[in-house]
Amino acid sequence: MGAYFRFEERAVERKLRAEATSGVIKPVPEEALGLEQSGERVTDRRTLIPVLGLREYWYPAIPAKQIPQRKPLYWRMLGEEICFFRGEDGEIGAISDVCPHRGASLSQGICVFKGTVSCPYHGATFDAAGTCKAFLGEGPDSKMAGKMPVKAYPTKVLRGWVFIWMGAEQPSAIEEDVPPELFDSKTTVMFSTYTYWPTNWILAIENQNDSHNAQWAHRNAMMNLTSNRGRSPTPIGPRSKLVNDRALVPMMANQNYYKDAAGKEMFSLHYPTLGGNWPRNWRKIPWAILKPLYKYVIYNKWRMAKKNLLTSETEEWCPSMGGSAWHLPCQVRVNHGIGYFNRFAVPVSANLSRVVYLYMRKRPRFWPIELVQKAWWHGYYKWWMCFNFSGQDARIAAPCRYWTPENLSATDSHLIMLRKLITERSRDAVIARQRGAERQPAMLKDDQLLQDLKRQGLGEASLEEAANVGEAAPVWDFLQKGFKG
Ligand code: FES
Ligand SMILES: [Fe+2]
Repeated sequence: MGAYFRFEERAVERKLRAEATSGVIKPVPEEALGLEQSGERVTDRRTLIPVLGLREYWYPAIPAKQIPQRKPLYWRMLGEEICFFRGEDGEIGAISDVCPHRGASLSQGICVFKGTVSCPYHGATFDAAGTCKAFLGEGPDSKMAGKMPVKAYPTKVLRGWVFIWMGAEQPSAIEEDVPPELFDSKTTVMFSTYTYWPTNWILAIENQNDSHNAQWAHRNAMMNLTSNRGRSPTPIGPRSKLVNDRALVPMMANQNYYKDAAGKEMFSLHYPTLGGNWPRNWRKIPWAILKPLYKYVIYNKWRMAKKNLLTSETEEWCPSMGGSAWHLPCQVRVNHGIGYFNRFAVPVSANLSRVVYLYMRKRPRFWPIELVQKAWWHGYYKWWMCFNFSGQDARIAAPCRYWTPENLSATDSHLIMLRKLITERSRDAVIARQRGAERQPAMLKDDQLLQDLKRQGLGEASLEEAANVGEAAPVWDFLQKGFKG
């Protein structure tokens, strides 16, 4: 219910505010989930993943409307404490919450002069560029004005969301990190919302594109109960293709594994070692009841014929319908044909992620239709997708022990691709390498695994090879399958 009343989200934010750093001892950096941080040679790639997220990217931070007009707001992300406030001309100021004078919390201050925030202690007053414009406690002749800058973060408001750059380098082009439909005036935001998962960001995004969890962990989700099958199982897994060192787009090449020559897949598969079938046949009942609704209303021919109105032009943003793509820094993205589902897992602290959802589609020609669509998406779909379905991921994936030895299967080969992308190709990794700061890994266990899979024809041996896969990603027929079955 967090989708509608925000009780849980506000409680988390109050707790973050209450736990703001203070005192005489420099706060200890967030512990690394028990991962090795010694700088020695490592064999497990997970130890190279930055616990508080990649820095050199644009991130969605907060809905702009949540920032009060005359008051600053405390926020935390990527392990840093931020003070948001209203800047000049509708811009959003984002500066470090730590006053450079004597360390007071700027978000406890007030906004007396337009476009500035004044520290609650001695009145140092900063603009969105982080410049100290005045020191109210010392009067107009204070020598502090113009000195004592506070760290400022570039921001940009897109479709009601504040995006923020927290990297040490100059900001990259925001179009490289933010989905293209946010810049397209012909699209409309069907809904945007966020919630919190009590887990590290990497666990939250590794949860995606996971065909074995889609089938099993979500067996009781409305999405699975109201389709004829849910997502097809595969012992091989979806393969991913690297694009522009920022995205892994799905190949969805192995979805037909259990289909017969006629392309038909049994509803229930037999497990000889268990002496039984799964899914159980009763699971067909909800689908049988709801099939007419899906066939004639939700996925009716007229609607499906229009489904491709919103497609991304570039492969990087997953123009193929149905698959789940990953995009750096922390995004999973599904093209539903009628719109794009985007989910970001923004690192807040080592064990907390702010999970941001943005669903966008093409704006209809007539505003009453847009109203009806929004009512549907807000009233049902948001719950169905973000809280009923994804909520199961939060409950199951979030408490995983990321430091324990893993036994990855062929289905996980795409996961290793993601880890390689983050640790070898991300901007952070490239910068670290240029500076000679890269930790030297020994032979990594997952490299070995990928090579084994490659020998069996089940995976890719390297990101280069993945990038060179010439095979076109087939259109995944999940949506249509609903009423064909
Ligand atoms: S601590 Fe902020 S003005 Fe003194
Ligand atoms: Fe899942």
